[in-house]
Amino acid sequence: MGEPLRFDGKVVLVTGAGQGLGRQYAIQFAERGASVVVNDLGGSFKGEGQSTRAADKVVDEIRAKGGKAVANYDSVEFGEKLVETAIKEFGRIDIVINNAGILRDKSFARVSDLDWDLIQKVHLRGSFSVSRAAWPHMKKNNFGRIIMTSSVAGIFGNFGQANYSAAKLGLVGLSNTLAIEGRKYNITSNAVAPTAGSRLTETVMPPELVAALKPEFVAPLVLYLCHENTQESGSLFEVGGGWVAKLRWQRTVGAICREASTPMTPESVRDQWEKITDFSDSTNPTTSMETTKHLISVLGELDGFGQNSQPQRPPSS
Ligand code: NAI
Repeated sequence: MGEPLRFDGKVVLVTGAGQGLGRQYAIQFAERGASVVVNDLGGSFKGEGQSTRAADKVVDEIRAKGGKAVANYDSVEFGEKLVETAIKEFGRIDIVINNAGILRDKSFARVSDLDWDLIQKVHLRGSFSVSRAAWPHMKKNNFGRIIMTSSVAGIFGNFGQANYSAAKLGLVGLSNTLAIEGRKYNITSNAVAPTAGSRLTETVMPPELVAALKPEFVAPLVLYLCHENTQESGSLFEVGGGWVAKLRWQRTVGAICREASTPMTPESVRDQWEKITDFSDSTNPTTSMETTKHLISVLGELDGFGQNSQPQRPPSS
């Protein structure tokens, strides 16, 4: 058994921490020594109204157990204000958990502009705004841990959640790029797709499942990913009920659907379809560079691309 994972001296900002998963993250970080900014707008699950009660309750709960916490009531759309609370109260920001969320489920044809915009604003723009505000502080400290909250609805799609799934998969892209840009500053970014009973899921899950899928069975993954000794970055995890798994892309070997100097046609795609979709001998690409390199080799093979650009021999002295 190794040492317990502690967060003494670290300042954590948890968005949407007034209840559900966010509350549990805040409580667990505080129990392990972190100073926590408990952010919550305190509105309805559809994103209407606001109140200070949700955040205050969690702050009281943490303080009652001897932990360090302060409340912030701003919407995640205004990331600077949230980070300002961390700097003003605790002098730094080390860890950002982008967790705040709302739902406006409708079948696709009925999604209004407001349903679309509100979801993007809270989930995608909110996570962007909060992370961007924290970024320069993390760079300066040469330390940062960021979590984006995705969803299986985003990864696989879900009936009635077009707006939500677009935002949730967008967060995986955001996380992947932050992982790349943060590497040289010791800033990691990972995405989690949790499942837990909460006011968001009680509308779609039976009560006994809501009760059984406790947020306590999700939070430890988020804490582990945010520890200073954890180097994992640019990854996506599913987590729920105590089960944790990592996801990755898988690509078929594919097929080249044209010959040198002949046009590419829909028929040539049709004729290669079996090969295009055959996952035997598949690979698991992890960078966009791999695609570029592969395309250059295809162009080289078919069109002689790059063959005249061999490095010149330096002139002999
Ligand atoms: P929840 O409704 O219990 O908690 C979300 C909190 O975010 C609420 O307290 C709410 O007041 C706050 N919030 C909403 N908009 C805000 C804003 N603009 N600024 C600040 N705070 C705001 O929901 P739950 O289930 O704990 O969800 C947490 C996150 O996990 C969400 O991003 C959700 O989409 C995601 N998620 C949850 C799943 C689940 O099974 N519970 C499944 C997949 C994703």
